[in-house]
Amino acid sequence: MLGVSAHQQTAASPFIRACRREPVPHTPVWFMRQAGRSLPEYLKAREGIPMLESCTRPDLITEITLQPVRRHKVDAAVYFSDIVVPLKAIGLDLDIKPGVGPVVADPIRTREDLKRLRPLEPGDVPYVTEAVGQLAAELGSTPLIGFAGAPFTLASYLVEGGPSRNHERTKALMYGEPELWRDLLDRLADITTAFLKVQIEAGASAVQVFDSWVGALAPADYRRYVMPSSVKVFEAVADYGVPRIHFGVGTGELLGLMGEAGADVVGVDWRVPLDEAGRRVGPGKALQGNLDPAVLFAPTSAVEAKTREVLAAAPATGHIFNLGHGVLPTTDPDALTRLVDFVHRSTQV
Ligand code: CP3
Repeated sequence: MLGVSAHQQTAASPFIRACRREPVPHTPVWFMRQAGRSLPEYLKAREGIPMLESCTRPDLITEITLQPVRRHKVDAAVYFSDIVVPLKAIGLDLDIKPGVGPVVADPIRTREDLKRLRPLEPGDVPYVTEAVGQLAAELGSTPLIGFAGAPFTLASYLVEGGPSRNHERTKALMYGEPELWRDLLDRLADITTAFLKVQIEAGASAVQVFDSWVGALAPADYRRYVMPSSVKVFEAVADYGVPRIHFGVGTGELLGLMGEAGADVVGVDWRVPLDEAGRRVGPGKALQGNLDPAVLFAPTSAVEAKTREVLAAAPATGHIFNLGHGVLPTTDPDALTRLVDFVHRSTQV
């Protein structure tokens, strides 16, 4: 089985070892949104191809996923796709508008609307199976990270109909119709799980669940309305034994509960230093993060000083260096390449 051999081949890589809190020859680095608009070769490859269409073409997916690995020498590749791809694949009418993000034609707000959220089958996303298989073969000992959106973050796009600052309709549904909300998140948990399983079975060596917008919630509401669906996702993929990463933005107050939700690695944004984040997350978890992506717009000496601060606060084992959120589109790609090299040199044992 391709999947099994891909997992074996990457087991000794610094990234997988750090996820398991084993000693590493240098701190592994990758960047959320490393494949994308900061790279001229990405813009060229994507020319004239709408975002969601590009996510259905295995050769293009493979090329775009490999671009940042070749250029920056990052320690892991992240599968080129989007969190809304499985929702599109089950037939929802949605699009990704450039500069805006996912837009849903017919938002999900009633019990009747829920019927449109049917389960995801592997046959709905054959291009994922094909592209992940190609990538695992090309990458060899470099791990491929698969990913999916967490139920809350997916729900926020589906209920609002697009990106939202305050998530007011999402919260109105959550507080006003808790049973409908629970059923919505439960269906999304199953879709997320199915999408992760397709990637793991095709050869992804680790998975990240993006709960990007969950920082909008207070801890008590997270625990009551959201955590059960995320726990369900992490439990459902536990038996594969691949590292599971859990990430959100503005989650300082939620880190303890996110640790409890079951992932092996907790992603931290730049608002909480990693030593404090480790205390909040609790023992037994690796940490990923957490340089502010905006720091990359400062001179190299300042980037290095801020990077040293991140490394000084990081745990002795079990740290994956990353930004605190995705690469900003106008980032100088050379600044990213220099950063990878700097982290590797600074942490070499
Ligand atoms: O390199 C990688 O990280 C892999 C690819 C990736 C994309 N989206 C490609 C993409 C990943 C991991 C995502 C995840 C994603 N998508 C998240 C979670 C990560 C995060 O940033 O918190 C979210 C919230 C989305 C939804 C989404 N899709 C947004 C907010 C946007 C940006 C809108 C914009 O144009 O500013 C997208 C579009 C998108 N997804 C692009 C890419 C490369 C840009 C589209 C383009 O290049 O035309």
